[in-house]
Amino acid sequence: RQRILSGMQPSAGSLHLGNYLGALVHWVRLQETYDAVFFIPDLHAITVPQDPAELARRTRTTAAQYIAGGVDPDRATLFVQSQVPEHAQLAWVLNCLTGFGEASRMTQFKDKASKQGTDSATVGLFTYPILQAADILLYQPDGVPVGEDQRQHVELSRDLAQRFNARFGETFVLPKPFIQKETSKIYDLQNPTAKMSKSASSAAGLVNLLDDPKVTTKRIKSAVTDAGTEIRFDRDGKPGVSNLLAIFSSMSGKSVSELETEYEGRMYGHLKVDLAELVVETLTPVRARAEELLSDPAELDRLLAKGAAKARELAAPTLAEVYARVGFLPAA
Ligand code: TYM
Repeated sequence: RQRILSGMQPSAGSLHLGNYLGALVHWVRLQETYDAVFFIPDLHAITVPQDPAELARRTRTTAAQYIAGGVDPDRATLFVQSQVPEHAQLAWVLNCLTGFGEASRMTQFKDKASKQGTDSATVGLFTYPILQAADILLYQPDGVPVGEDQRQHVELSRDLAQRFNARFGETFVLPKPFIQKETSKIYDLQNPTAKMSKSASSAAGLVNLLDDPKVTTKRIKSAVTDAGTEIRFDRDGKPGVSNLLAIFSSMSGKSVSELETEYEGRMYGHLKVDLAELVVETLTPVRARAEELLSDPAELDRLLAKGAAKARELAAPTLAEVYARVGFLPAA
């Protein structure tokens, strides 16, 4: 069986609709036919300051949302990155194969570092994409299902795999980004030309999986729409309406053109009311299941520890091969 791998940072109290539609929904579909590896990249989270108790809480909350959204821990390998030391170990080797200039060109690093000021940005943030390459390459996956914003990182992992293979002999599978066009970028409801992101300046543009339905309804009803009245998909001319249509389409299974026909002659308000209802209906059981899982954190921790043991069985042989090829002496 072919393999997929992916992860989402535990850096917010809840996943948002971009994470859900851009990634989680595809993971759940793909785990049916692929051997799936899903993890929570807590090592990545500390590239920016985190409150320790909050990080632990968010790691569990993220795991609970994976499962509540449909990740099956019996079928997929589900774990927390810091419990599998091979990630950090392979990252070091890959750090030593990455050019300083190459790492400097990563657009997410440039964005985040310029927001923080280059002096306060950490070396960890700089080397973030290389740790991500290690996450991926350790498991030899064929595909990495992510949103559009992660494409460059998956491509870096492919470049590093190729470089390692060329220098030390065939070791890594070259992973491909699996990006679902229609949902690869969900936009901020208040600022529909920017992607929905937990680091947005205002929470009003986000739909969070774990928010109260009243909050979700209000946010969708207050979404920025465009001049004019026509409900039509036009990314450049009507970014607000187009974003709502894209969300509607992916959640309902109806195509955008079916929705355009259905809403012909109707007002933006109608679309928003129906979309709010659909989103709440879709997310309510996910939220309920996540809360149920979070009511027993010890059980969740046990499940994640079991997942980490499974992950180490997959990761250890790759790391051993890498170490041997690089010329490190065998430990035993
Ligand atoms: P993160 O935590 O920012 O996002 C998790 C997933 O959600 C997708 N996503 C979106 N998709 C559509 N529209 C949006 N507005 C939107 N916002 C986020 C992301 O593309 C991603 O798929 N670096 C990664 C985490 C990571 C990882 C990995 C991913 C670490 N190691 C190895 C894959 C493989 C990140 O910060 O994603």
